[in-house]
Amino acid sequence: MTPLLQASGLAKTFTLHARGGVQLPVFAGVDLQVNAGECLALTGRSGSGKSSLLRCLYGNYSAAAGRIRVRHGEREVDLTEADPREVIAVRRRTLGYVSQFLRVIPRVGALDVVAQPLRDLGIDADAARQRAAQWLDRLNLAERLWPLPPATFSGGEQQRVNIAHGLIAGHPVLLLDEPTASLDAANRAVVVDLIREACARGAAVVGIFHDEEVRDAVATRRLDIEAFRT
Ligand SMILES: Nc1ncnc2c1ncn2[C@@H]1O[C@H](COP(=O)(O)OP(=O)(O)OP(=O)(O)O)[C@@H](O)[C@H]1O
Ligand SMILES: [Mg+2]
Repeated sequence: MTPLLQASGLAKTFTLHARGGVQLPVFAGVDLQVNAGECLALTGRSGSGKSSLLRCLYGNYSAAAGRIRVRHGEREVDLTEADPREVIAVRRRTLGYVSQFLRVIPRVGALDVVAQPLRDLGIDADAARQRAAQWLDRLNLAERLWPLPPATFSGGEQQRVNIAHGLIAGHPVLLLDEPTASLDAANRAVVVDLIREACARGAAVVGIFHDEEVRDAVATRRLDIEAFRT
């Protein structure tokens, strides 16, 4: 089986330009592979580089060294050398990302925020909004909030919009950064179910799960990022 996502020799170093170009190495030599149906949990202390690794895998942070290969349809794309247009195409169809905090778009209501990834795939507005409503309903977001822009939502409400937005397109590869961090027990359980359903349909997941109970419930493997400290 070829992995859906594969990183080899991956290294990340931040260059602090505001501090005369000081180099801050975070990790080096990271090798990982994720197959369909697997959920790889990144572990390690706060500040060890888990979110940075996830951002590298999403093509958001440039890597100092190494390769990131993503299975994109029939092809394999190396995100470390892909041009920006190709990165966008990979994110549209293949690579989903749930950040810890929602990046709020002013004036766009929650339902349309969640429908957007489907619109980007060419699905018509009504069908996209219907699917978005199902996701928000599943995540227990009060219906009166659906037309409202999420800017004023509570942390947990924003996070549920974010999760619906990240999962709705059914991407084959999912990157999840603390998706349950500000949720209550009932909603955490919903998100656990959603992640397990994603794996069951053959998605490859890489996630950071602060909550050990959540991690135990979803992870099929773990990778301690501290082993790659430089
Ligand atoms: N954009 C950035 N510029 C400079 N340094 C950064 C940047 N992003 C992260 N860092 C540094 O890289 C290190 C790893 O940060 P990262 O956010 O990846 O850790 P983490 O393991 O996700 O921590 P946490 O569990 O607290 O979320 C930290 O020392 C952080 O200060
Ligand atoms: Mg983090």
